[in-house]
Formats: sequence, structure tokens, C-alpha cells
Amino acid sequence: MEVQVMGSRIMLMGFGNVGKGFCSLLSEKNSMLKEYYGTDTKVTGITTRTRGCIYDPSGIDIDLLLEEEANDPQRSLCELPGFSAICVNSPYELVQKGKYDVLAECTVTSLQDKSAGLDYIRGALSRGKSVITTNKGPIAFHYEELLDLANKNNGKILFEGTVMSGTPVFSTSVNGLCGSSIRSFMGVLNGTCNYILERMIEGQDYSSALGEAQKKGYAEADPAMDVEGYDSALKALILANVLIKTSPLNLEDVQIKGINSLSPEVLKEAIKGKGRLRLIARGQLDKNKKSISVGPEIVPEGHPLYSLPGATNGLVLETDTLGTVCLTGAGAGSRETGFALLNDLVTLSRPGYERRVI
Ligand code: HSE
Repeated sequence: MEVQVMGSRIMLMGFGNVGKGFCSLLSEKNSMLKEYYGTDTKVTGITTRTRGCIYDPSGIDIDLLLEEEANDPQRSLCELPGFSAICVNSPYELVQKGKYDVLAECTVTSLQDKSAGLDYIRGALSRGKSVITTNKGPIAFHYEELLDLANKNNGKILFEGTVMSGTPVFSTSVNGLCGSSIRSFMGVLNGTCNYILERMIEGQDYSSALGEAQKKGYAEADPAMDVEGYDSALKALILANVLIKTSPLNLEDVQIKGINSLSPEVLKEAIKGKGRLRLIARGQLDKNKKSISVGPEIVPEGHPLYSLPGATNGLVLETDTLGTVCLTGAGAGSRETGFALLNDLVTLSRPGYERRVI
């Protein structure tokens, strides 16, 4: 049977590690997207915080952009050869007036500005556009509001990349656990911390391990988010608010301990080989009350979260139907998180698809 091909114009907010990873996947998978899923994608706009914005309703040459950008990564997009004619000023104006079908929002998550990226998402949903995002703040703090706004305007909002990068947490739980209740979860949700802990147990010092995680593109723009446990806390909030019914929780409800102030005793204990030291996020539904915590724990050998090399993440869900369900996979990285956006984009194109709370 021949697949009917539909156009999908993308407005990309953010051209850091994730935005670039997404663009190179779009380019690499272009014919597969058309042939298998009937989606003919083009990127009509790209906005950045500090390097200008470009807009071309007939489609930006992504291959040329990636090539020119790699030659001169600090330069404004508008100054790259071939892009000065399509330079525009205001990202928000593009959200409100630009031509696109899907807003791909991958701007930086910030605790100083908890609503960073929120207005872009609100603006797109208000126009009846769909949104795919990897930005944790808007989903952790405004999930219900954004879902309502999407429903009211016949748009959709998908956010696979907010937890465990492209490892399909929400696709798996929402589509594969229909009719189940998730009672609790336990997860390693931050790739940077997992990477650092592994290196420190091997004898490397904290700062050089963090430097390596930054170089590999795992860490947040402000790595304090990772090592102080806030990134894990936001992801745990998202899991709790999306997967477990009952009233939503806030960051103030989460007990948070990071890996930045680990005592030498805990490290020594871990080095002695009694299990593996991990930064664990826990969520529990207890007598209709949810509780969430984040903190370092030793995980015993044989536990599903014992073998997670490098930036790998893991999630253990306790369900009332299957008992324990485990998911492990990439937790951070440019291509890995860019893939989450690609997966969400294809999901949007599926007829009758609705993402909902299970
Ligand atoms: N800084 C995050 C991590 C990126 O290390 O897990 C993915 O959300």
C-alpha cells in the first residue's frame, strides 16, 4: 500500500546540542520518514537565545546550516554564508506569525526562570499548533495547563525527551500500559551524575569527571542542575504528574539531595564493592498521597539499576498488572535527545493518536 505523504513544517526553538541532534536526524532520516510514515518534513524557522534567528517558509537548507555551523560554531546563524537573507529578529513573533505545523521546543531548562520556554509553547498551542519539547520546566510546572490548552485548540503536546532522553518512557507507558495503574517508580534519571559517579569510583576526581560529562554534551547549561539533584527532581515530578493519578506535585514537595556533597565514607563504601552508587529518584503513591525524593543510594548487585554504564538511565515501574516493569537506555546526549523529538514528530503524524494520562 502506498503511504500518503503529508507535509510537516517545523519551527525549531533552540539550536544547542539537542536542536542540532534533531536537525541531523531529520536530514539523515528524511527518506525513511517519507516512505514509512508519510511525513515530509521541512524546517521553516530556527531561533536561538544569543545567535540570532532565521526563517524561510519554503524550508531552510539544514545540511548547509549544519556544515557551516560546524566550521564556525560561535558565529550568529545570520552571519553564516548563505543565511543572511533569511535573518529575523524576534523568536516570539515567529511563534505567533510564522508558518509551521509543529513547534519543536528545546530551549534551556532553568530554575532561575521557571517559565523559560513556556510562552513559546503557550503561543503555539493557542494557534492550534502541536508542540514537541525536551524542556523540562514547562512540563514539570505547567503540565495540566498546557494539556488543557492543547485540547481546547485541537493541538497536541508531546514531551518524550524530558525524561531519559530518547528512551521511550512515555510512549511505552502511555501506549503499552493501558489499563494499568503505576503505584511507584524508582529511577536513575540523570546521565551526567551517573557518568560522574562511575568515574569517581574508578578514582577520577569530581571536577575532571564533570568536565568530561560537559564535553560529551550530557550536562545542563548550568551543571549545578545535574549535580545538585534538581534535574532528577524535575524528571521525577514529570513522571509523577503524568503517570500517577492524584493531584499534581511541585518542586517544594520533593526531598532533594545531589551528588555534589557526597561524604568520603559513602564513596569509600561504594568503592569497597558493596553494590553501585547511583543518584536515585523515587516516586510513591501512598494512601492517595504522592511523595517524591532524590538522593544517592547504593544499589545491590542483581538490582535492575545496578548495571547502567556511563550516561545510561534506568526506570523501574511498579504496576498493578505486570508487577515490575523495567526500562533502561540512553539518558542524555545530542543525538539521543534529538531522537526524542523525532519520535514525537512521527507520533504526531499517526492518525487518531492521542497522548493521555494512563
Ligand atoms: N543533563 C541531563 C542529564 C540531560 O545529564 O541527564 C538529559 O536531560
